Amino acid sequence: MNGVTGRMGQNQHLIRSILAIRTAGGVRVGDDLVIWPDPILVGRSEDRLRALAAKHGVERWSTDLARCLDNPDDTVYFDAQHTAQRPAALEAAIAAGKHVYCEKPTALDLATSLRLASLARSAGVKNGVVADKLFLPGFVKLRRLVDSGFFGRILAARGDFGYWVFEGDLEPAQRPSWNYRAEDGGGIVFDMFCHWRYLLDHLVGPVEAVSCLGVTHIPTRYDEQGRAYAATAEDAAFATFAVEGGAIVQLNSSWVTRVYRDDLFTLQVDGTHGSAVAGLFGCRAQHRSATPRATWNPDLPNSIDFRGGWQDVPDNQPFDNGFRTQWELFLRHVVLDEPFPWDLFEGARAVQLAELALRSWHERRWVDVPGLEA
Ligand SMILES: NC(=O)c1ccc[n+]([C@@H]2O[C@H](COP(=O)([O-])OP(=O)(O)OC[C@H]3O[C@@H](n4cnc5c(N)ncnc54)[C@H](O)[C@@H]3O)[C@@H](O)[C@H]2O)c1
Repeated sequence: MNGVTGRMGQNQHLIRSILAIRTAGGVRVGDDLVIWPDPILVGRSEDRLRALAAKHGVERWSTDLARCLDNPDDTVYFDAQHTAQRPAALEAAIAAGKHVYCEKPTALDLATSLRLASLARSAGVKNGVVADKLFLPGFVKLRRLVDSGFFGRILAARGDFGYWVFEGDLEPAQRPSWNYRAEDGGGIVFDMFCHWRYLLDHLVGPVEAVSCLGVTHIPTRYDEQGRAYAATAEDAAFATFAVEGGAIVQLNSSWVTRVYRDDLFTLQVDGTHGSAVAGLFGCRAQHRSATPRATWNPDLPNSIDFRGGWQDVPDNQPFDNGFRTQWELFLRHVVLDEPFPWDLFEGARAVQLAELALRSWHERRWVDVPGLEA
């Protein structure tokens, strides 16, 4: 596991996924079969790795990736490094015959992400990319509504993602400083549009075109050492997507907005027969037959409790941490050859949307999203 001293690697992948799986006794896949992940933590800093391993009782760690890749007993390479570091490490792991699983984006340009997908295919190794938002309870329930035909014809969707990321002077920033430097692979478009690709494809329909406007609202931020730096990457992006079948999706992505909604990300889907709003955990729906009669009258205060007219979609199933759920599916894919659709090729499609959104912004025009052949 490479990049586990970082925010995502440590919290979501090591602690909440692999260590949680070990605490639960592994992934039981049959009466007499358990998949038991045995991680080796890989990174650049001996001190940090040693401390992390000791804190969590992990026996193996190393600063020598090449040597780890030489060990035939370690069969899966996982990467949650800073994005710019990922392609070379994935390529080395694939060349060493490892199955690979990694964070998004897989690379910072489409050509490289496609190359990784094709290298993995030629090498015949299993491969996967994180698509965690699909496993959040709110979006699992939204998908259930889609599958049940609840919406009728989906007309439009509107998503609001974001929160205030502190500049780092008054309070420390909640995100790493490289996120705000374009030269280091930062920017909210590459960070979030990878998620938008799989979410929209999965929930609303295949994305056909994108129009995007990015902006850097806060030009100076303060890094992990408290030093001022120029924020060269966009910290907000306002995008519209045209989806196959005619639905229109608008998504705001912002690290410079203060939250006045139920969650850090909410997505409202409007269809001819019903609407729903999903957040990370919850999903509320309103059927056509329960839609209140709203009439515009500026002379009277509004008398309708609009929020009161929505119904909670029940869980109806237990939910685990989404990263862990996807890890378990990937491990089953590796060991049992079960299907795992979120492969490096899907990862490339995500990178494609981010790249085309940036093109739309820089060229100030709508950009088509051509199909990619696997
Ligand atoms: N799935 C999600 O929701 C989600 C959310 C945030 C970030 N991410 C992705 O996870 C990856 C890591 O993001 P993070 O927020 O954990 O970042 P982070 O800065 O906290 O961690 C980066 C990790 O990469 C390592 N690294 C190796 N070479 C590096 C270099 N030259 N410069 C900086 N770090 C280097 C660091 O030591 C650290 O372990 C990114 O690719 C990011 O896009 C995914």
